[in-house]
Amino acid sequence: MKTIRKTLAVAALAGTALLSASAHAFFGNDDDTLKLGYLVKQPEEPWFQTEWSFAEKAGEKYGFEVIKMAVPDGEKTLNAIDTLAASGAKGFVICTPDPKLGPAIMAKAKSYGLKVVTVDDQFLNAKGKPMTDVPLVMMAASQIGQRQGQELYKEMQKRGWNPADSAVMAITADELDTARRRVDGSISALKEAGFPADQIYRVPTKTNDIPGALDAANSLLVQYPNVKHWLVVGMNDNTVLGGIRATEGQGFDAQNVIGIGINGVDAVNELAKSKPTGFYGSLLPSPDVHGFKSIESLYKWVKDGVEPNKYVEVTDVVLITRDNYKAELKKKGL
Ligand code: GLA
Repeated sequence: MKTIRKTLAVAALAGTALLSASAHAFFGNDDDTLKLGYLVKQPEEPWFQTEWSFAEKAGEKYGFEVIKMAVPDGEKTLNAIDTLAASGAKGFVICTPDPKLGPAIMAKAKSYGLKVVTVDDQFLNAKGKPMTDVPLVMMAASQIGQRQGQELYKEMQKRGWNPADSAVMAITADELDTARRRVDGSISALKEAGFPADQIYRVPTKTNDIPGALDAANSLLVQYPNVKHWLVVGMNDNTVLGGIRATEGQGFDAQNVIGIGINGVDAVNELAKSKPTGFYGSLLPSPDVHGFKSIESLYKWVKDGVEPNKYVEVTDVVLITRDNYKAELKKKGL
């Protein structure tokens, strides 16, 4: 009997040790290192991978640990906040999979005393209005969109296209404010430059990825069989890439298509292709700055009580094409 009890006690102890060992492996250090989360909606986009890696650079600089988590939907987001709280994290940066989750995310974060900084996509409240009291780091959406329109027009002129048989395919995602502002900016710049307004066609994508944009673009292309040259507008590289793939599928030559994406880092494989495609280039903003600054401001908030600015707009942007993309990425350390 005595031996059995002893064995059980040893087993129980071993069990505890095992549990804490796995908790240790999962949650990282159990020393006093400060932990901060970085939650992103689409970890498959190099944009978000770049943010993560620059958040880690901030972690190295200031001595905190970054817990990187993928949150593709609402359920995973709320679960991630539970996990973060259980690990002892003090706050997180988030690019939400859906802006309307804002109030639920904030309620859960508050229940655990976690601080929140948003990046890229702004939260919306129950009335659909931006939650301007939550700190946000984002790109200058309208301005960068306008630049997309201006560069498209410039390239079209360089190629000597006749506006009469050219059209704009604008793949929209209006429920996402940053996407709406980018596309609206692009369209207004095209009109301003002189592109005929009634040859600018908008089509919504169901999902913010290449397959979604491809479907949207296909449905648009079949409606306008007489267009010879297409300009492709979209809120990011994947959206524009979907448009380009659709033109290829419907037999357009790369020479007759000009697409310019936004994000830059998501366009590297395309620009590296041995032959040019209709994807002419991409506007590279600053995922490095977004990743570093957002978590740096969270760190200072947690550590020193310094409240972050409510709104940080990142404006720098550079057009990368097949000719300069390697050099431009290198300049930013990407
Ligand atoms: C949105 C887009 C991303 C990226 C970021 C940049 O979240 O979905 O692809 O463009 O904005 O702010």
